[in-house]
Amino acid sequence: MAAKILDGKAIAQDIRAELKARVTELKKQGVVPGLGVLLVGDDPASRSYVTAKEKACEETGLYSREIKLPATASYKEILDVVKAFNADNQIDGILVQLPLPDSSMEQSVIEAINPDKDVDGFHPVNVGRMMLGLPAFLPCTPHGVLQILKRSGIKTDGAHVVVIGRSNIVGRPLVNLLSQKSDPGNATVTMCHTRTKNMAELTRQADIIVAAVGRPNTVTADMVKPGAVVIDVGVNRVTDATAKAGFRLKGDVDFEAVAQKASAITPVPGGVGPMTITMLLANTVESAVRRHGVK
Ligand code: GUN
Repeated sequence: MAAKILDGKAIAQDIRAELKARVTELKKQGVVPGLGVLLVGDDPASRSYVTAKEKACEETGLYSREIKLPATASYKEILDVVKAFNADNQIDGILVQLPLPDSSMEQSVIEAINPDKDVDGFHPVNVGRMMLGLPAFLPCTPHGVLQILKRSGIKTDGAHVVVIGRSNIVGRPLVNLLSQKSDPGNATVTMCHTRTKNMAELTRQADIIVAAVGRPNTVTADMVKPGAVVIDVGVNRVTDATAKAGFRLKGDVDFEAVAQKASAITPVPGGVGPMTITMLLANTVESAVRRHGVK
């Protein structure tokens, strides 16, 4: 039997419609949620993510401001932009697009962001608060995965979830969030990574598999229990001469084969991807509500 396709694009549209209505209400109270974006260098993928973020802000009624710096920008120049965003009352959320050309700067740049404006949820204060189950900005991709599960009626309570990938942006926060006493949550969670010895054995026990690796065909049909739910976070560019851009997007999951075995699966594109930007908007709106003390 073919799996149900979990349509992240449609779920994202629903959430964006809710946010748009919320923003209209906030504007009546004199509050326009604002996002400040810093892009350093001209990596094409980063460039296209930033453009998509700005377009999403515009469509949802948020204010956005983009600052672009050349790849050669110094640490001080980058920090000056972050400081200016921190001090600017029009800016409720700050996003420094990663990776930075000099990745050794990343952690200290993230730590320079005011945690109250850290809508990516990358600042150690927000990571710590999330770990403790306190109110915090949740990182956008894990937040989006939780929303897909919740809005698709997939129960995580008591389920065995296997998360493949241990990145700070996706794998580790998801393991933490899904194990919390919350809904979605209350799952028994196994984390797999490059050093895991018996990955297929573990994934075959999973009620829900989340793949966040960054490598196509990491999850094949033989690794999936019949009826499992499969969430594919991977966004891999694979060469395709027939595509206009010369590439197409592929997830971490062998979609065609796994879709014959799973009960539900997210496609790539159109699954988790559209949710990430949507949760960034949601975090920015939440920040504006908190910062301006409105209802
Ligand atoms: N690069 C890839 N994903 C992300 C993200 O979620 N936030 C930021 N700032 N950069 C990214």
